[in-house]
Amino acid sequence: MKDILQELENRRENARLGGGQKRVDAQHAKGKLTARERIEVLLDEDSFEEYDMFVAHRCTDFGMEKNRPYGDGVVTGWGTINGRMVYVFSQDFTVLGGSVSATHAMKICKIMDMAMQNGAPVIGINDSGGARIQEGVDSLAGYGEVFKRNILASGVVPQISVIMGPCAGGAVYSPAMTDFIFMVKDSSYMFVTGPDVVKTVTNEQVTAEELGGASTHTKKSSVADAAFENDVEALAEVRRLVDFLPLNNQQKPPVRPFFDDVARVEDSLDTLVPENPNTPYDMKELIHKIADEGDFYEIQEDFAKNIITGFVRLEGQTVGVVANQPMVLAGCLDIDSSRKAARFVRFCDAFEIPLLTLVDVPGFLPGTGQEYRGVIKHGAKLLFAYGEATVPKVTVITRKAYGGAYVVMSSKHLAGDINYAWPTSEVAVMGAKGATEILYRSELNDPEKIAARTAEYEDRFANPFVAAERGFIDEVIQPHSTRRRVARAFAALRTKKARVPWKKHDNIPL
Ligand code: HXC
Repeated sequence: MKDILQELENRRENARLGGGQKRVDAQHAKGKLTARERIEVLLDEDSFEEYDMFVAHRCTDFGMEKNRPYGDGVVTGWGTINGRMVYVFSQDFTVLGGSVSATHAMKICKIMDMAMQNGAPVIGINDSGGARIQEGVDSLAGYGEVFKRNILASGVVPQISVIMGPCAGGAVYSPAMTDFIFMVKDSSYMFVTGPDVVKTVTNEQVTAEELGGASTHTKKSSVADAAFENDVEALAEVRRLVDFLPLNNQQKPPVRPFFDDVARVEDSLDTLVPENPNTPYDMKELIHKIADEGDFYEIQEDFAKNIITGFVRLEGQTVGVVANQPMVLAGCLDIDSSRKAARFVRFCDAFEIPLLTLVDVPGFLPGTGQEYRGVIKHGAKLLFAYGEATVPKVTVITRKAYGGAYVVMSSKHLAGDINYAWPTSEVAVMGAKGATEILYRSELNDPEKIAARTAEYEDRFANPFVAAERGFIDEVIQPHSTRRRVARAFAALRTKKARVPWKKHDNIPL
């Protein structure tokens, strides 16, 4: 009996070795943790339950039958993050380059099926040379099975991808279908084809970092949501993110203890908006001052900075924030900001996370650059996302809310539940100068007349009261009381029920 028990321990020891000490050392030399070390950092201490430790591949081509390492290049199972269950897979680059065989894919699929069945998020740690070349189409079929589950799980349980090494070929498409992608600077890459193929096909010379590094994907392509200095930081941030999210689409997000006065008055907000309507100010200041303990978890911080997206807590409960940022492009909407915010709004709606929208928007960015690239369709994504969202929606207009962009930004007309405005708000079709120049074109050569017309327009429309008269604004509020008003609005909406007509699914403008 003792021998049998020892035999199990020996096998376990063998499996834990991964690709052996030399390869583990090589992994460390690159500044990367091993697959198991990453799981240890990610999960609560001693909470990991591993499955399929002894799974080995079945390939017999290219002499592979002589090289059948336990685990087959991926560590899978479940554990907890601050006591809440998550499923995890972590690819082991030290074993056949973390490449994906049929059995490797089967292990991932197994925990994804369990996650959907038991209602817990899936966290995938990717560090892989892609499809296992020796297995050919079997490997591709395995990828297909993973893709299928990514799609089924979308909107059912949160899916988070952490890219911690190469991620090439079709392998990028599984992370692409998950809700959030985190990368590590200087050691993770995502591309459909690597630099060598790029050179052959397009004659373009580019480094892996330029083509698909963390900076490229967080600043240019927006494929990734955040980039971190090293593995430990990235995994710690995954833990922080998971704390904001519900475990599945049937549950509410967790309620955390909070130590902040819900009625906290912030006098400084009364002077946040400058006298001159064209002077920018930092919308993040308002977000921090509304949030419990000033804590804001920003998503896509480095992309389309004219819109801000992320999570805060109010009375301990998660709220998704979308806010125009007057510091960048005057806070206008464009293709990138519309896409960024639309995806965020849809995530929140899928997982019952209420939405707070902070508005200071002069309109959509004009010009051929935007029109040729389809700002109409992309802008419509945000319009559509807000219009279809049935979660509690609270809006605060701080300054400009002009034209179509006013309607888009969670207005009453798109079923905004509670719409507040600061006294500094201007809810109008456009700014006073633009409006008078169109309405009084014949008087343009008389600056005095135009100035008088502009003043008249400002008087009439550069305020929240025309909209408030019509009930499009529920209340004009004092800036210093914004936290209390917003928190009470969400509290009143906790039992909100919204009905939508039956449909198979919508057809959001893609
Ligand atoms: C089998 C692989 C492998 C793969 C790496 N290895 N990728 N084995 N299939 N796809 C093995 C290597 O042979 C090597 O084994 C070990 O892993 C470490 O690899 P190195 O090349 O020594 O490491 P490094 O120099 O760090 O380079 C990493 C790499 C490179 C950039 C990922 O290995 C690489 O380019 N691999 C091929 C990538 C690729 O083209 N994959 C297919 C993509 S297509 P030894 O025993 O020598 O140490 C795809 C389609 C998916 O994925 C489609 C889904 C629909």
